[in-house]
Amino acid sequence: MAKEKVLTAIDIGSYEVKVAIGVPQVDGQVQVMGVASSPSRGIKQGVVININDTLKALGLAISDAQDMAGMQAQNVYCSISGTHIEGAPGNGLVKVRGNEIDRHDVDEALQSCAAIKIESTRELLHSLPQEFIVDGTDGVRDPIGISGVRLESKVYNVTVGATCARNIIKCINLSGSEVKNLIVSPVASSASVLRDDEKELGVLLLDIGAGTTDVIVHKDGAVQFIDVIANAGNNITSALAVNLKTPIAVAENIKKSYSLNSGSFSKKMIDISFNGVGGRTEVSTRTISEMIESKVKDIFKDVKDRVERNCNFPITSVVLCGGIANLRGIDAFAEAVFDAPARIATVREIGGLADLIKDPQYATISGLLKLANSNYSYLRQTPTKDDGPMKIFRKIGNWFCENF
Ligand SMILES: Nc1ncnc2c1ncn2[C@@H]1O[C@H](COP(=O)(O)OP(=O)(O)OP(=O)(O)O)[C@@H](O)[C@H]1O
Ligand SMILES: [Mg+2]
Repeated sequence: MAKEKVLTAIDIGSYEVKVAIGVPQVDGQVQVMGVASSPSRGIKQGVVININDTLKALGLAISDAQDMAGMQAQNVYCSISGTHIEGAPGNGLVKVRGNEIDRHDVDEALQSCAAIKIESTRELLHSLPQEFIVDGTDGVRDPIGISGVRLESKVYNVTVGATCARNIIKCINLSGSEVKNLIVSPVASSASVLRDDEKELGVLLLDIGAGTTDVIVHKDGAVQFIDVIANAGNNITSALAVNLKTPIAVAENIKKSYSLNSGSFSKKMIDISFNGVGGRTEVSTRTISEMIESKVKDIFKDVKDRVERNCNFPITSVVLCGGIANLRGIDAFAEAVFDAPARIATVREIGGLADLIKDPQYATISGLLKLANSNYSYLRQTPTKDDGPMKIFRKIGNWFCENF
């Protein structure tokens, strides 16, 4: 009997390191066999700041996921986030070799988009295809077989800080696994929670975690904009801790217990008791909700400004994932700020222990599993070493396998 292929997803988040192990099914889905998470230490806003602490969290999550799955982690797809991530449109042009455009022409056209000048401290991680233009006719998604002389391609290039990427690879290597692919978090999250029609019309996906808010916009079935903002759940918790004069852990629980202000909250006072200086505080539920809402508003406003500056088309829907998507009322609040329908993400098309990764907090990890199981050629990688040239991550999109 053929040996089962094992797929592993690792999301090195600022709140938790999450690991999922799955196996591909005949129907094309991934069967999730093991899931585990471990509180992050040594990660700040998506970036490794302490190797030993990161290794401890990583080791724990990997071994728990392996125990649950009863299999060893292999084919590791890992996410990367942080404000060092930058995206920009790119384009390329080739002369078609024969009468008809073939696969080789398309590969060449996409390769030419990746020939961009970048600083020595940065590396190109993805070139995500947007569209092809054949002899001046734009909007071509699949040019293979079309007669033409001039093949232009448009992509969205994503670059990362080289040392940030290397440190992630180093930690995974030291924990006994090998990174097969590194994917920027919002690209992974998109794969698990967005529908094709949303990506066609103009969708904004926000992955709001503890340290960062990852922003991605899709339109015409392709990525148009990616950004990462260092303002997320930790800022909400800190604001509660400062204003209510409680320890961080108490503020964290308060954040999870209250929703955004819907205007219907009573002024009922509640008592918050805790161990530590003061030990007790009295506040109305409405005030707590208003504090949370004010911080969420800061995040949304920043996102809105950036999207408006970079996208010259309307956003037709908003999807929210990451742990902060669990805040009650955040979808209605997003609708008001972005003036578009908003929904909380649910993880799609994953089998097995799917219930364990349904929470919007698991959008990145389930997307990584999906991509590991897909044919996206720009994600098909050779094994990577943390000290090798980062160019091995550079991949060109395969427009034809799936839509991106
Ligand atoms: N039920 C909940 N209600 C409100 N907030 C929640 C809930 N569950 C988790 N959170 C918050 O979500 C955040 C963690 O989300 P997530 O697991 O997506 O982060 P991460 O991926 O580890 O971090 P990052 O992506 O920023 O590096 C924390 O701020 C946590 O307090
Ligand atoms: Mg995250």
